[in-house]
Amino acid sequence: MRVQVAIIGSGPSGLLLGQLLGDAGIETIILDRASREHILSRVRAGVLEEGMVGLMDKAGVGTRMHAEGLPHDGFSLAFDGRDHRIDLFGLTDGKRVTVYGQTELTRDLIEKREADGRPTVYEAANVTPQGFDGESPFVTYEKDGITHRIDCDFIAGCDGFHGASRKAVPENAIRTFEKVYPFGWLGILADVPPVSHELVYANHPRGFALCSMRSQTRSRYYIQCALDEKAEAWSDGRFWDELRRRLPAHHAEAMVTGASFEKSIAPLRSFVAEPMRFGRLFLVGDAAHIVPPTGAKGLNLAASDVHYLFAGLMEHYKDRSNAGIEAYSGRALARVWKAVRFSWWMTTMLHRFPDTGDFDQKIQEAELAYLTHSRAAETVLAENYVGLPY
Ligand code: FAD
Ligand code: DHB
Repeated sequence: MRVQVAIIGSGPSGLLLGQLLGDAGIETIILDRASREHILSRVRAGVLEEGMVGLMDKAGVGTRMHAEGLPHDGFSLAFDGRDHRIDLFGLTDGKRVTVYGQTELTRDLIEKREADGRPTVYEAANVTPQGFDGESPFVTYEKDGITHRIDCDFIAGCDGFHGASRKAVPENAIRTFEKVYPFGWLGILADVPPVSHELVYANHPRGFALCSMRSQTRSRYYIQCALDEKAEAWSDGRFWDELRRRLPAHHAEAMVTGASFEKSIAPLRSFVAEPMRFGRLFLVGDAAHIVPPTGAKGLNLAASDVHYLFAGLMEHYKDRSNAGIEAYSGRALARVWKAVRFSWWMTTMLHRFPDTGDFDQKIQEAELAYLTHSRAAETVLAENYVGLPY
């Protein structure tokens, strides 16, 4: 089989790229090692920047997102027993974010791809990008014991942090940068109304907590936990008690609790691979970079990568110029590193680190106090949170 662009990974980046290319008349196939059901059951991010919302619209899949997504004009920083609202809208000349689950966004993209009759192979084993150094790249995979080969012009490696694309690059051609944080996030989903109509990011001596949501009736809550914790060790009662302890009293008292239906622990990591293009192979989204979730940037960075790569591929196919393809890695990485910095900074400001001494504690308090007294400092936070321009 031959397509113009072979896409590895049916997560948000692969699906979005496939949709934009398909609409522009470029043939794609998506290969994923997981099943459709597994992909649709993953609970991950929830906050979309305007750039991501715009790409969903451009891909013709924005209808449900606009109907069911929640526009948010601000969020709260909670510390020292009180809330400080960051007025995103007012600080950024009218920008806002949209709360819409990655699970829903993925479903919208998968259903559109199916409706358009574009091919996806699920449960594809041993997916391997090959020949991308030359003019004739191809991808091999196994399905039901048979090896298949897809010839293509380009390979888009949209297969996440543990995928095959980055691993296919010779070690001496790639440089990686990594920081692993000494804690994780324990997250739950529960069908209870959110404690506040906006997100609450809490800094507390017992550790970070985040109150988020998926709808007016579904809450997503996270608490910082030790890396060796097991989700099974956290009964719902224990989780709610710990969450309440980390919030200002007015939130703790207003909190509606109930049975959770998802509970999992995610480790926190910053990681960047450079460059993001190797001949005719591109790394996109989590395949190239990971950020700790504190700034809600992971999914949104996948979107900006897709924006740059789509522009480059369009220049190649429509204008017969490779300038955009050659610029892809540099353009994407310039934005990636700013979001890596922001996510690291938010993480550092809001979490308890095991080796935090009195000095570090005072610096963290000063940082939060500065944020609440300086419009300039708030503006820096707000313009990064709503997303830097593409
Ligand atoms: P992915 O969504 O990882 O998609 C990659 C796809 O490739 C998957 O479908 C996978 O099955 C497939 N794949 C993997 N390996 C192979 C292979 N070898 N062959 C074929 N297919 C393969 N971000 C936030 O902003 N906020 C959050 O709260 C948040 N929580 C997260 C929690 C977890 C547990 C994880 C893992 C990530 C979280 N993120 C969060 C990050 C965010 O979800 C990602 O940035 C986003 O999913 C990136 O999209 P992607 O399409 O690049 O990669
Ligand atoms: C969510 C996750 C985040 O990492 C974040 O910063 C905000 C919201 C969420 O899952 O809703």
